[in-house]
Amino acid sequence: MEPPSSITWLVGVILLALLLEGVKSQDCQLISENDMDAEEEPCENFHQHVCGNWYASSMHRNLGAHDMRSKWVSSLKLQLIRHLESESESSSSSSSSSSSQLATFYRSCLSSGQSVRSYTDALARSGANFPVLTNTTGPFDWILANAALRTYGAQGLWRLLVKENWQLADQRIFYILPPTFDFLGQNDEMNEFLYQRYLKLLLMEMGLRVRRAAVLAQKLVEFEKSLQGLLPNDVDKTLVLRKPQSLKELELQFPGLELKRYFETILQGVDWEPSTLLLVVDLDYLQALQRFLTRNTTDPLTLSTWLLLQLPTHFELRLHDDDKLSSQRDHCLERMRKLMPGPLGRLQMQLVLGKSYQDVYDTNIQQIALLFRDLKQQFELMLNETEVFEDDLATRNLARDKLRAMRLLTPRLQDPMGSSPLSTPPLGENFDENLMQLSLNQAKLAFRQVFGEPVTSVPSDPLAVNAYYRLKLNRIELPLGLMATPLVQLPSCTKETDIRAKLSAGLGYILAHEIQHAFDYDGINYDASGQLANNQWPARAIIRFGLRAQCYLGDRYSNATLTINDNIADSEGLRLALDTYRRRNSTQDLRTFFVAFAQNWCGLASSAAGLGQHSGHAERVNNVLGNLPEFGDTFQCKATSRMNPADKCRIW
Ligand SMILES: *[C@@H]1O[C@H](CO)[C@@H](O)[C@H](O)[C@H]1NC(C)=O
Ligand SMILES: *[C@@H]1O[C@H](CO)[C@@H](O)[C@H](O)[C@H]1NC(C)=O
Ligand SMILES: *[C@@H]1O[C@H](CO)[C@@H](O)[C@H](O)[C@H]1NC(C)=O
Ligand SMILES: *[C@@H]1O[C@H](CO)[C@@H](O)[C@H](O)[C@H]1NC(C)=O
Ligand SMILES: *[C@@H]1O[C@H](CO)[C@@H](O)[C@H](O)[C@H]1NC(C)=O
Repeated sequence: MEPPSSITWLVGVILLALLLEGVKSQDCQLISENDMDAEEEPCENFHQHVCGNWYASSMHRNLGAHDMRSKWVSSLKLQLIRHLESESESSSSSSSSSSSQLATFYRSCLSSGQSVRSYTDALARSGANFPVLTNTTGPFDWILANAALRTYGAQGLWRLLVKENWQLADQRIFYILPPTFDFLGQNDEMNEFLYQRYLKLLLMEMGLRVRRAAVLAQKLVEFEKSLQGLLPNDVDKTLVLRKPQSLKELELQFPGLELKRYFETILQGVDWEPSTLLLVVDLDYLQALQRFLTRNTTDPLTLSTWLLLQLPTHFELRLHDDDKLSSQRDHCLERMRKLMPGPLGRLQMQLVLGKSYQDVYDTNIQQIALLFRDLKQQFELMLNETEVFEDDLATRNLARDKLRAMRLLTPRLQDPMGSSPLSTPPLGENFDENLMQLSLNQAKLAFRQVFGEPVTSVPSDPLAVNAYYRLKLNRIELPLGLMATPLVQLPSCTKETDIRAKLSAGLGYILAHEIQHAFDYDGINYDASGQLANNQWPARAIIRFGLRAQCYLGDRYSNATLTINDNIADSEGLRLALDTYRRRNSTQDLRTFFVAFAQNWCGLASSAAGLGQHSGHAERVNNVLGNLPEFGDTFQCKATSRMNPADKCRIW
């Protein structure tokens, strides 16, 4: 390890220690007041009123913080970095405990030089015979090369995914889809130029002379463009919803692709039965690919070298060499998040919860289960009373059954897969080898899921903080990262009521939001077991629902048709969280509840992610609160004020 980087680490550690100390000693009330901008009228722009002074320091911004939730994630990252770097300082690195394995991986990521040879050697071991490596013109076996890539998690001529069977959600099957062409991009000259330069660099690292590398790199990009040309022009990136087919059927349909041999190669060491293997494939792409490969217009050198370079590219070899230290740290953590989620998650909860973390965690889970139960009970009451189902007992019962059947899945701290990816050879100082070792194990674990037990636990992503409602399973899933945020680990408050308000307006609201997705425009088409059940509701109920939901298409909502389901879940969810909170305790403080809710959305939605189904944070928060009469009452908003519109939306 080089001295300069240890000094930087040490400085980082001290800074972090100071920072974390500072946060701990503050009371929750104080933190909220800090973010507020009292100059801004609560009845005109509540988001600005409570978040006007919110900001993320450059240390947090360097780790991706742009709003409250991403700041929670960056705080978790800082805590992990601090720990891993102090482990690295002190570790004798001989122990193979999972904590020191994490530190070893992290250290190898930050300090080890990478080499293209590690990757080309690994692929050469597949026996595919790459002309560029051997300087011979013997036959090149692209099936083997394509399969070897996938054993390391990389894409080759296609992408092989393990996903739920869209027809039968608790079954996992394989999907074969076109590559994503992330580096090439879509008709972007700048991208192509950079990508070609990158490929040339890799070829030179492999020992090719500059001119030869340049010529070959150009051919590789041309090859990849013709591969991309096999896709229809309007590439719909969503998964193809086709009936799953058996391997045998597909083998007959695509003899040129030798799918059976492909699967035999990637499934070595997995107990599997070819007759039970089910696949959803992009038939159009595979047809085009088969024609393309039998046309004999691509010389074997280009095809083989293109496949060969997919491995170092997948692992982003040398792409991050010039990054600042903070980006490198972030990059290393993201790698661990993907490749070692279980051990990283356990370490994180240990750091957040302290020594007896397992007990505290179990208590947290119990509290969340109680909250979920209360929310469901409250919503059932609303379903019992709503006019949407007036004189329509059958549909009311359908809705109630669906609500009662809804489950909440929380992550387990212990690895349910039993064989942790770390049980095989301990990691060493070579980052390339570590990456490939972990990727091999991870791919194998994923393949086993296709033939093994149904998946019952949530993937334990330690840095994800978004909850999901899964329509086809009628269940809500909480990722592990959420469990480590102040939503669950409430900061210390001197007033008990503050904690209650914060819990209800934070996690309570999030659960309520997800519950509402079971009853939004998409949700009402699925039944209690998650089956698509069109027309389960009679026209009368749908019309009554639609008449109320229409309000969410009003002027206050930008891009309303795109965001309607989330606008429904937002407002109806906060209504549910508020009613549940009020029912639990009659002497509540609504002001704290509203501030706590809004402050979880301080900052700006990131420009890239913001284009999805969510509208911007300020619009979101202000519109949601504007729909609750209790908000206007609490802050005594005039009828003319922006936060107290006449057209309040409410379905249930
Ligand atoms: C590769 O083969 C060519 C022609 O067969 C020869 O000219 C060249 O020197 C060889 N290169 C290496 C590195 O062996
Ligand atoms: C492709 O080349 C191989 C051997 O070089 C040959 O056997 C095959 O018939 C060719 N295919 C086509 C479609 O030309
Ligand atoms: C809703 O109505 C049903 C049927 O009348 C009743 O059994 C159930 O207890 C009610 N739920 C709540 C939460 O009041
Ligand atoms: C509406 O959607 C378009 C495209 O999805 C986006 O460019 C635009 O910024 C959105 N407008 C608002 C106000 O969110
Ligand atoms: C409601 O909150 C008050 C104030 O914290 C507390 O004294 C009371 O016990 C709570 N009531 C219930 C039913 O939880």
